[in-house]
Amino acid sequence: MSRSVLVTGGNRGIGLAVARELAEAGDNVAVTHRSGEPPEDLFGVRCDITDTAQVDAAFKEVEEHQGPVEVLVANAGMNKDQLLALMSEDDFSSVLDTNLTGSFRVAKRAVRGMMRKRSGRIVLISSVVGLLGSGGQANYAASKAGLVGFARSLARELGSRDITVNVVAPGFITTDMTDALPEDRQNEIKKNVPLGRFGAPEDIARTVGFLAGPGGAYITGAVIPVDGGLGMGH
Ligand code: NAI
Repeated sequence: MSRSVLVTGGNRGIGLAVARELAEAGDNVAVTHRSGEPPEDLFGVRCDITDTAQVDAAFKEVEEHQGPVEVLVANAGMNKDQLLALMSEDDFSSVLDTNLTGSFRVAKRAVRGMMRKRSGRIVLISSVVGLLGSGGQANYAASKAGLVGFARSLARELGSRDITVNVVAPGFITTDMTDALPEDRQNEIKKNVPLGRFGAPEDIARTVGFLAGPGGAYITGAVIPVDGGLGMGH
């Protein structure tokens, strides 16, 4: 396979593992990054997914470099955890704007070329907490739950064009995002994970690779948990 792939937020953590997995499988992989330098082995474009003009410019750069995007992995995301009583409207809306509306912006832009080509793969990175809920993460959980309805609607809209749209729902994965959790909170979480440990970014990458590869050809509208059993398949 040497398809044109774009992974948002593919400069580190889960996104970087996904980008490397697909590049190793032979695809041409571009990653978006917000700041700093992209990894040396991948084509990087600067893009803040909260800005439609930046999304459009990033896609144009990718299209010039490797052709229209055939596989989109909407991975970029963030959290601003806070109890509801203390959560500002900006804490809520900025997380929704990045995680949910940001995925809308990139999917909408990617679908243009996919519809023309009558094929494509879209994978959205949600979270176990989107379906389980999580105290102190109402904004984040709402954004990640929203991705499920979004993906399933797109799966229905775009199926006739042979475009699949799926969601991967990671549990707790060792990255900068989880390293920021206090150690006692990390240990508490592990007690609820049947496999008793956090996952690695590569665990998510292999699942995305499967959905984007030949094995995923007849899968659309699915939510695949990769969470050590935490969500029990939801
Ligand atoms: P990370 O913080 O290491 O990486 C997030 C990436 O998203 C970074 O590249 C960051 O620059 C990018 N990003 C954030 N806001 C952006 C914006 N406005 N525009 C463009 N890029 C932006 O986090 P990690 O852990 O690799 O997370 C990747 C995805 O996986 C996220 O969507 C996260 O919500 C999700 N996830 C992570 C879990 C974990 O345990 N680490 C668990 C469940 C889901």
